[in-house]
Amino acid sequence: MNPKIPIILDGDPGHDDAIAWMLAKASPQLEIRACTSVCGNQTIEKTSYNARRVMTLLGIDAPFAMGRSNPLVGQPMVAPTVHGESGLDGPALPEPKIEPQPISAVELIARTLTESTEPVTLVPTGPLTNIGALLLLYPELKRKIAGISLMGGGVAHGNWTPAAEFNILVDPEAADVVFKSGLPITMAGLDVTNKALVFPEDFERIRALNNPVAAVVAEWLDFFYGFHRSLGYPGAPVHDAVAVAALVRPEILTIKEYYVQIETKGEFCRGATVADHWGFTGKAPNARVILGINREGFIDLLAEAAAWYGREEA
Ligand code: BDR
Ligand code: CA
Repeated sequence: MNPKIPIILDGDPGHDDAIAWMLAKASPQLEIRACTSVCGNQTIEKTSYNARRVMTLLGIDAPFAMGRSNPLVGQPMVAPTVHGESGLDGPALPEPKIEPQPISAVELIARTLTESTEPVTLVPTGPLTNIGALLLLYPELKRKIAGISLMGGGVAHGNWTPAAEFNILVDPEAADVVFKSGLPITMAGLDVTNKALVFPEDFERIRALNNPVAAVVAEWLDFFYGFHRSLGYPGAPVHDAVAVAALVRPEILTIKEYYVQIETKGEFCRGATVADHWGFTGKAPNARVILGINREGFIDLLAEAAAWYGREEA
């Protein structure tokens, strides 16, 4: 039996996606089977270029494919205020050594699942476009999905509108498909990720590790914090890394099960993740919603991962 958890990383790098991928690659419990891009923080061209540069920097040796240019239904929405015009502004990165596969992200995920002898865990840290499309196009492959550990939503509030978090707001129809899929979902939403704060002194701890990846991670944190500091955050909320932490260090998290529905219409609430706190719907929970985190444990996890890149096996 494979002692490692096989995963597929699907994201829109993005500073926190990149740090999530850094953590995934350094985690001995995980085996990265494929990486895919999605349009979100920037256009699909930019997130794909960034994904390939990040894979090259981290030494992720897995097939990569590009997602589609649009969400399933609506128009793309980008976040240059948070991640810059490139989608990953800040430190210089190596030019990509990874060529995209001549198939779409959805086809690569389907192929990876089909070829796997064991169920694979999906780790989406951007809009859920690829995962929603996969479930619509290949429902028979559900049995090859062990679970979905995602960053998105927030049962208390949003960050792009009062009600909606960015990843879900960009493609609520895809999120709706995912949350109705019946697959085991772990949701790292704003409830926890706004507590997953990396403080400036933690940046220095990572920078002091003195290896090339740790140096870039510290600079990503510098950049990402710039935007959040202007909003009054005391540190950088590294949202996407919580979706990976849920797989490798669940003991630092507080989790509660809810039935979560996605608002796809709504004058004010499109993209909201509506959790049934009081059991009004009478439906069984469909998501493990992460609500709390041991911040120090999270920082240790990130710092240990960044230190791994200074080791010989990296
Ligand atoms: C999410 O939106 C993006 O900007 C981040 O990468 C993260 O996935 C947080 O709302
Ligand atoms: Ca992201």
